[in-house]
Amino acid sequence: MYSHSKVDSIKIVGLGKCLPKRILTNLDLEKMVDTSEDWITTRTGIKERRIVDKEYASILGSDASLKALKRASIKPKDVELIIVATITPDTQFPSTACYIQKDIGAKNAAVLDVSAACAGFVYALGLAWSLVGGGFYKNALVVGSEILSSITDWKDRSTCILFGDGAGACVVVPAKPSSGMLGMYLGGDGNFADLLILPAGGSRLPAANQTVKKRLHYIKMQGNELFKIAVRIMVECAQKVLKKCGLKNSDLDLLIPHQANLRIINAVAKRLNLTQEQVFVNIHKYGNMSSASTAVALCEAYEQGRIKKGDIVVLDAFGGGLVWGSCVIKWT
Ligand code: UT7
Repeated sequence: MYSHSKVDSIKIVGLGKCLPKRILTNLDLEKMVDTSEDWITTRTGIKERRIVDKEYASILGSDASLKALKRASIKPKDVELIIVATITPDTQFPSTACYIQKDIGAKNAAVLDVSAACAGFVYALGLAWSLVGGGFYKNALVVGSEILSSITDWKDRSTCILFGDGAGACVVVPAKPSSGMLGMYLGGDGNFADLLILPAGGSRLPAANQTVKKRLHYIKMQGNELFKIAVRIMVECAQKVLKKCGLKNSDLDLLIPHQANLRIINAVAKRLNLTQEQVFVNIHKYGNMSSASTAVALCEAYEQGRIKKGDIVVLDAFGGGLVWGSCVIKWT
């Protein structure tokens, strides 16, 4: 748990997003697997998702980054640090941050990727806070970019209806204490690793004919188990980080939760006693985009005028690992 007594704060000065043009609807999915528009809508809240044609993580990430930098009035060459949260990098290595650095012309930036699944964007903001707030860098570009369609088993109806592609980015700079980032809570539990996993392709199970035949290069998920844990953890995360900042649930102006399932979001909102106006939802348009979900949602909430100066905004994310993270931002 960070607090501004140890490092200075950071604030977000630019936001950007990039969604592929192609829309895959629930009706399209009806033609691909044994499912129905009604089942998907009722059980998940998802109506459609965006899927790339040929783009990859760095392409969407670069586009979102350039938009964020433009809004921040910071030139690519002046970016000092690029952190990319992704579980679908362009390549195992180099990092996707390297490709984004090259594509946007941020030749003076340090570059790294963060692997924290759906909580990746919040984890990346945490790193940016410690490094920019700690005085190591003057600014950072924080990106969440995912091509989940590349690891989705389009024959598995229990998972393929959930995921989509997209990217969001923000630029952070130092801020005065008690403004911008007020608090953060990050956690995880590797005991639950098997609940949401891409089994093959790493050093444990390198790619081979058998791993391909067994479809082990696709997301495997025990949705039901995850659902229960997600609600409990996301509620705990939001409560812990608000308490750390000396705030109450009622002080919260906008909760931006990870968009995994509308029923999860509604259950979390109910337990936190929040009204619909206090919770941002865009899952119906994009599905679950892992680390890109909170990044895109933050950008979209801002673009829609849902975030005003002085507002208390909480990002709340949970995903494969298991990992989780929450942060409180006082918008400046
Ligand atoms: O982003 C990281 C975190 N991710 C999550 O937290 C995801 C959490 N989990 C979920 O969102 C939900 O568990 C799912 C949306 C994945 C599934 O919803 P559910 O209400 O938990 O359904 P279920 O897995 O219990 O399945 C209920 C039934 C099953 O049939 P039977 O066994 O009751 O006959 C499934 O076979 O629904 C069936 N089913 C489907 N039917 C139509 C599963 N997928 C589908 C489908 N279309 N696409």
